[in-house]
Amino acid sequence: MSSTLWRVALIIVALYVDAQNAQLVPALFIFGDSLVDVGNNNHIRLSLIKANFPHNGVDYPDGKATGRFNNGLNSADFLAQKLGFAGSPPAYLFLEGRGNISSSILNGVNFASGGAGILDENSGGSLSMNKQVEYYATVHGNLVAQLGSAEAQKLVAKSLFMVVIGSNDMFSYFESNSKLKAKYTPQQYIDLLISTFKVQLQRIYNLGARRIVSVGVGAVGCCPSQRSKMNKTGDCVEEENNLARSFNTALKSLLASQLTPNLQGFRYALCNTYGVASKYFQNPSVYGFKDVMNACCGAGKLNARIACLPVVKYCSNRREYLFWDLYHPTQIVAQMLVDTFYEGSADHVSPINVKQLVSTSI
Ligand SMILES: *[C@@H]1O[C@H](CO)[C@@H](O)[C@H](O)[C@H]1NC(C)=O
Repeated sequence: MSSTLWRVALIIVALYVDAQNAQLVPALFIFGDSLVDVGNNNHIRLSLIKANFPHNGVDYPDGKATGRFNNGLNSADFLAQKLGFAGSPPAYLFLEGRGNISSSILNGVNFASGGAGILDENSGGSLSMNKQVEYYATVHGNLVAQLGSAEAQKLVAKSLFMVVIGSNDMFSYFESNSKLKAKYTPQQYIDLLISTFKVQLQRIYNLGARRIVSVGVGAVGCCPSQRSKMNKTGDCVEEENNLARSFNTALKSLLASQLTPNLQGFRYALCNTYGVASKYFQNPSVYGFKDVMNACCGAGKLNARIACLPVVKYCSNRREYLFWDLYHPTQIVAQMLVDTFYEGSADHVSPINVKQLVSTSI
């Protein structure tokens, strides 16, 4: 080949590689709670579940409070980065507020809402998982209208669907005077959550989703809020962690034994948040943590009696804290979890990791 041809060939290869690196999937759709909310709750006028004020966002560019429930970026943002997106998919209610969602949905949308649960009754002041699925149906309809049915189906099938839900359903069961606890045994409650979640996931599948990243619940009984309220010694609340583990076991079986055999082409990566986080609690220093008990931002016992409001103090060494506030992990934890789920081994993410999930052919 002449040198000019070589140069042209190299440019084509470079462009190709660049396009590949640019985005590993066409779009990213995110469902869930405050762990992945990028600002939906800012647009729910009457909701009290908000984070769009200091000191939230102190480590976000320009120290801006965006509505994310931590000091900076969250897992939705870090997953979008891993997948090569220029930015995190926009909050659905932000797009809706502008009156026209069409142009901004081709790279995905984030439906997640702080306070959301699988059950509507556990989702006061937020977009419940059912509501989020309903909004996704609207987005799907809009994609079909823009691209035509065949192209929309192709785009959606190749896209990634991240679902981070269940923690608020755990918290609700352990609220003082919980009606749920009076009504259901732990096993009945798990059955109800899983059968409800099953319908929600099936509905997303019926609207074209094929690649699901399902994130299990963490050690919710170890949140500063729960420790400070429910365990005199300030240790983790065992009964609550037991419920979380039961939920995760049932979730694993839902995905492997109920959905996979019955839904043609359904693929998933199940992220073992509980298992990964347990390592942080057991060996903090190995992972760079000095404090895995207290909230960085807050006041009172474990900095968890008063939430992270502008009037309270926050720690300067955020990298060394597992918890940002009484409920939420710090930015560094979100990043470490996504790194692990992306390329991790089968004890942390199974049956395949997220990297493998996005490279399976559709
Ligand atoms: C409080 O923590 C201790 C120590 O981990 C544990 O043995 C106990 O069961 C916990 N209490 C509750 C109510 O979870």
